[in-house]
Amino acid sequence: MLKSKDLLGLKDVSKEEIELILQTSGEMIKILDQNVKKVPHLQGKSIATLFYENSTRTKLSFENAAKFMSASVSSVSIATSSVAKGETLIDTGKTMDALLTDIIIIRHSCSGAPHLLAQNIKAGVINGGDGMNEHPTQALLDMLTMQELFGSLKGLNVVIAGDAKHSRVAKSNIWGLTKMGANVKIVSPKTLMPIEVEKMGAKVYTDFDKAIVGANVVMGLRLQLERQKAGLLPGLDEYSQFYGITNERLKKADKNVFVMHPGPINRGVEIESDVADATNSVIERQVTNGVAVRMALLFLLTRKSAS
Ligand code: CP
Repeated sequence: MLKSKDLLGLKDVSKEEIELILQTSGEMIKILDQNVKKVPHLQGKSIATLFYENSTRTKLSFENAAKFMSASVSSVSIATSSVAKGETLIDTGKTMDALLTDIIIIRHSCSGAPHLLAQNIKAGVINGGDGMNEHPTQALLDMLTMQELFGSLKGLNVVIAGDAKHSRVAKSNIWGLTKMGANVKIVSPKTLMPIEVEKMGAKVYTDFDKAIVGANVVMGLRLQLERQKAGLLPGLDEYSQFYGITNERLKKADKNVFVMHPGPINRGVEIESDVADATNSVIERQVTNGVAVRMALLFLLTRKSAS
């Protein structure tokens, strides 16, 4: 059983809860493998997405997950909603409560926005990405993919490379993977390294060629190109040379290494195009596993609200 009505981040989720979510996701993969992807698990439940930032994968995958489980699904379009008239986040949430929404999936540019919403409404809240803080469902689908490939996360050598400072994916993966016993290395230029990463349980590297030795998984992070304008990088070519995932660099990893990326990818910047499309790239499998993880979460959280 999950402790909370919400999933706001992996920092406050226990190892046992992560195990439950991954185990339930495994059951959901069986449903996705069926010819007819429809089960009644969420019949009578109302799921809504509330995305203040762009998304392809997270939004669509939550919507598909809810539809495959027979929920009614709605999406708040921020540009045409009353948010554009100045409605506050809490008032929007209370309105969605009054409309009998069971679970709200929110993405917001402000770190902590899902937490504020969750504290003030009855519906369950799932964090679909908040500022530079966390993206817990991305990390869960990453962990599900690694578990599928290796059987266990314990002792796995995972290298996460790129713009870790601005990456909510990196933070959720550090919290989750270290709880599950994986060895996590973060590789970033000093200007893109978040503070206190070591206290979170990861090892810190600025030299990708050293960090990658023996890696079982190399995960690239999207370089948020707007950061370049902020003077945090000398140039894109130099960044790619030192922090890009290339075929040459992958030769130093374990011979059975897998390449991951949360997407969207900047081909030729943080990852060579050939590497993104190679047979050991599991980027598309991550996306499919995202549906299973989100089905599992919706199932577990709606059971929680029913109890
Ligand atoms: N990985 C991820 O969050 O992708 P989207 O921005 O497309 O949802």
